[in-house]
Amino acid sequence: MPILQWSGKTLIPPQPARLILDSVIHPNGAGWPDNPVKNHLYLGDNLAIMAALLPEYEGRINLIYADPPFFTNRHFSARIGRGEDSRKPREWQLARGYADHWDNLDEYIDFLYQRLALMSRLLAPGGSLYLHLDWHADAYARLLLDELIGAENFLNEIIWTYHGPSPIRSAFNRKHDTILAYTKGPHYTFNADAVRIPYNESTLKTFAASKKAGFGKTPDLERGKVPEDWWYFPVVARLHNERTGYPTQKPEALLERIILASSNPGDLVADFFCGSGTTPLAAARHGRHFLAVDATFRAIHTARERLVRAVSPAFAIHSTSETALTDQKDPIYAFQLSNNQVNLTSAQTPAYWEIDPLWDGRIFHSASQAVLPLRFGEITRQLSVPQQKTGHKICVRAVTNESEQIQIELMPADLPA
Ligand SMILES: C[S@@+](CC[C@H](N)C(=O)[O-])C[C@H]1O[C@@H](n2cnc3c(N)ncnc32)[C@H](O)[C@@H]1O
Repeated sequence: MPILQWSGKTLIPPQPARLILDSVIHPNGAGWPDNPVKNHLYLGDNLAIMAALLPEYEGRINLIYADPPFFTNRHFSARIGRGEDSRKPREWQLARGYADHWDNLDEYIDFLYQRLALMSRLLAPGGSLYLHLDWHADAYARLLLDELIGAENFLNEIIWTYHGPSPIRSAFNRKHDTILAYTKGPHYTFNADAVRIPYNESTLKTFAASKKAGFGKTPDLERGKVPEDWWYFPVVARLHNERTGYPTQKPEALLERIILASSNPGDLVADFFCGSGTTPLAAARHGRHFLAVDATFRAIHTARERLVRAVSPAFAIHSTSETALTDQKDPIYAFQLSNNQVNLTSAQTPAYWEIDPLWDGRIFHSASQAVLPLRFGEITRQLSVPQQKTGHKICVRAVTNESEQIQIELMPADLPA
């Protein structure tokens, strides 16, 4: 069995992060304040976070989708504000996204190896792991997964094809990614019927003309076919209603297919490189629970916004002792409490704001949120406060266009106990 070697190859026992519960978000107030929370976003390095999750989740995650940096040696920028339309580069406002920069290939492979080893420990028996890469490193990753999960557990090499402009003139345009799928053992979930797609027109016509066209095989023309291992989905740059401006965001349809095929409602789905939160969004939409990690606040905040817009079930956000979610900055927005409402009174508006009506000074319980609509329209200036109590401050958190989170406390005056 061939094994990949590189200098310094060894599995290092990872140091678990100290996880800090920062907030619990109840989109649209659903279940506020004490619905049990089964969905989690974590801000920090996924190695230390996965190590911290082992005691609770080892062998318990049904599906892991991993979309790490691809070894492109690039820095990816985020497009912020409303100017994120791919067709209008002059209107782009850019901000830091994430780095895919490495000293050498050994460093990158070791980064993947340590993390894939933990993912394979977290995976439940019968669970599936989908690793999304491209031509830069997929060949090495295949050997890593053969070693860590077992070549006999290889399920599919999925080719996701797309098209779009490219400056390349000296080779064929590189317009596919590779997704390597492995399962933890032979008894795994695969819901073929949940992902059937219609046969194409020409197949339908051929079978309408001759029943013998399948050479003995009769396709189920009504239910459609189980997709091949090559998929076409347009890139997010072409999907106006999905684009968040977060770099290398993946299409929701891609994640939906993976989730529907390889998990069941009520299962736990994880994404330890979650970026803009496509996996948690698709998981919530299809009744799965999620764990999602990213190293940048911009990613975690983008995921939060998308989950709030989609009115997901409640979810928690955790930081680590190394990461902070809220900046100690002077407020640039003004809010006023009147009766049962908080009003945004400053001329300047944030991209997101939310309120905790019973602020305990520690964990933010978000009962109500305002999100800038994706393409058109203004953010709401008024949120209602579901409950107030004497002695309890109301806390407002607001996030700027540049993804800085600011916190402001309001004291309700003369409230009945
Ligand atoms: C290719 S992007 C993921 C995009 C995502 N699938 C989406 O649809 O938006 C890779 C992500 O991995 C994150 N990342 C890189 N290294 C990380 C680490 N050590 N721990 C956690 N996240 C990391 C980056 O911040 C980036 O958001």
